[in-house]
Amino acid sequence: MLMANGLVKRFRTRTGLTTAVDNITMSVAAGEVLAFLGPNGAGKTTTIKMVAGLIRPDRGQVVVHNMDVTGRPALAAARLGAVLEGSRNLYWRLTCLENLIYWGTLRRLSPSEARSRAVELLRLVDLEQCQHNTVQTLSRGMQQKLALCQALMHQPKLVLLDEPTLGLDLVSAQVIKAMVRRLAGDGVAILLTTHQMDVAQQLADRLAIIRSGKLMLTGKTAEVLARYSRPVWRIAVSHPLPADRLAAVRDLGWSIEQPTPADLLVTPPADDPTVIYRLLDVLRPQPIRLVQRHQADLAEVFRQVMAEGEALL
Ligand SMILES: Nc1ncnc2c1ncn2[C@@H]1O[C@H](COP(=O)(O)OP(=O)(O)OP(=O)(O)O)[C@@H](O)[C@H]1O
Ligand SMILES: [Mg+2]
Repeated sequence: MLMANGLVKRFRTRTGLTTAVDNITMSVAAGEVLAFLGPNGAGKTTTIKMVAGLIRPDRGQVVVHNMDVTGRPALAAARLGAVLEGSRNLYWRLTCLENLIYWGTLRRLSPSEARSRAVELLRLVDLEQCQHNTVQTLSRGMQQKLALCQALMHQPKLVLLDEPTLGLDLVSAQVIKAMVRRLAGDGVAILLTTHQMDVAQQLADRLAIIRSGKLMLTGKTAEVLARYSRPVWRIAVSHPLPADRLAAVRDLGWSIEQPTPADLLVTPPADDPTVIYRLLDVLRPQPIRLVQRHQADLAEVFRQVMAEGEALL
């Protein structure tokens, strides 16, 4: 649904040219959520604006649903919906419903289609009771949810979400996350940026991590998490282990860390998923409360990727 090829964007600054986006290539398929991650200033918003046709890249090409939309905002807007950082295309003196109907008719829906679509979307994000309130009376989170409705009015096949859950309460964030899942389930391609790694981990099928405008890592979320997980087991026992049991574990070739006397982090001599049985035999008959293989989370992956990037510089 989206193919971005070799995007480059430079900005003129007081000290000369800075490269905000440096040769980024990525794609998002129908029904897929791509989390586009990176630290502040990495070039995420600049990339998203190029995808939306709002900024013309210095090099590269953006194809949305088989149409080259590079630097052509009107063409892009007909094919995609975007919730961009900070800016919300909402009229403050119009009500939620009026805003959505106006926007829908701009996107070529008939007034009655626009109205029924607007009511349906407002219900999905729990804003139906505010439909006749003007935008200026809404809280920031409510405006964020309304901006999402607006982006979805014309049922785009590609949706760009730049930090959609920023500043939202827990329940509102859940509503947005549920909405993203539902869209992906309906075959919509979603490009999502967020600094909330738990949100990315919950939603994303694939990841693209950038740093200083360059792609550092891409891959399926599950595969990336598995790649960054260490072959370490956490074992919690009810009582601290006697010294001879610890020695027996070491004799098997395992290394042991003990954050607390009843908590062991053990690294096997080989990364073999069945190796844990030999260890448990050695611990028998100690009562065990927990056996858990280490699983990296996205926050850990992100930190490691950034550290690796630092090392390359
Ligand atoms: N209009 C502009 N003029 C000059 N420099 C710009 C402009 N827009 C962005 N930049 C620079 O480009 C770089 C990337 O900015 P961008 O907004 O894309 O980052 P980001 O990844 O979205 O960061 P954040 O996580 O803080 O939202 C930054 O160094 C920024 O200062
Ligand atoms: Mg940004």
